[in-house]
Amino acid sequence: MRLDLMTWPAVADYLQTSTGIMVPIGSTEQHGPTGLIGTDALCAEAVAFRAGEIAGALVAPTLNIGMAQHHMGFAGTITLRPSTLIALVDDVVSSLVEHGFRRILFVNGHGGNVATLGAAFAECFATGRLAWGKEAPDLRLKQLNWYDMRRVREFSASHYGRSEGQHATPSEIALTQALFPETADHRVLDPQVADFSAFHDWRDYRRRHPDGRMGSDPSLARPEHGADLIELAAQGMATAYNAFVSEE
Ligand code: NI
Repeated sequence: MRLDLMTWPAVADYLQTSTGIMVPIGSTEQHGPTGLIGTDALCAEAVAFRAGEIAGALVAPTLNIGMAQHHMGFAGTITLRPSTLIALVDDVVSSLVEHGFRRILFVNGHGGNVATLGAAFAECFATGRLAWGKEAPDLRLKQLNWYDMRRVREFSASHYGRSEGQHATPSEIALTQALFPETADHRVLDPQVADFSAFHDWRDYRRRHPDGRMGSDPSLARPEHGADLIELAAQGMATAYNAFVSEE
């Protein structure tokens, strides 16, 4: 169930039965010469919407701009600084907590968000402690990457092997092809499988990874793979959500 397509009385009714909600979070950043700028947000959103259907859970609007400083060497990337993302997440969580939500699962589509999201959770707990002390609500926050779901990893290993890589992966590109088939670009790039090496800032990233990819061959992506990946990721996410909201 999408929060943005519900009325306030419907949300109030939902809160009588559950205090859980999923929040998709992605990024707006380059994904190589053939991948969409919105890939990480589009993937997180599609997986969260489907997981919400499976689990009967509410899904908040997608936080579609994340921490993408290292992709700023490429046109179209938009980034928040870490402190802004922490403040954004704190405000979103505080609003949800005020209405009665207590179990908030962030469905993440971007590895660059992970560290900052963890820091944001610490900030949220500090906000609650400083505002309410020992009366602070029993709030629980969790983040899961859709691409880390076990059956997603198995699918990408069997279909793409080492060509999955780390950025502009055939898995995430396939997922956007399933959502927007008219955007699919199956060009084989040069080199076919991009190099992988660690990097420092955004200039060093561009120097080491001139076309934006890291270790991947996105030409292997197919829309039908993407449809399978959405379902596999959503099933794993729904199972994890159900465990999260019912844990002691
Ligand atoms: Ni990505």
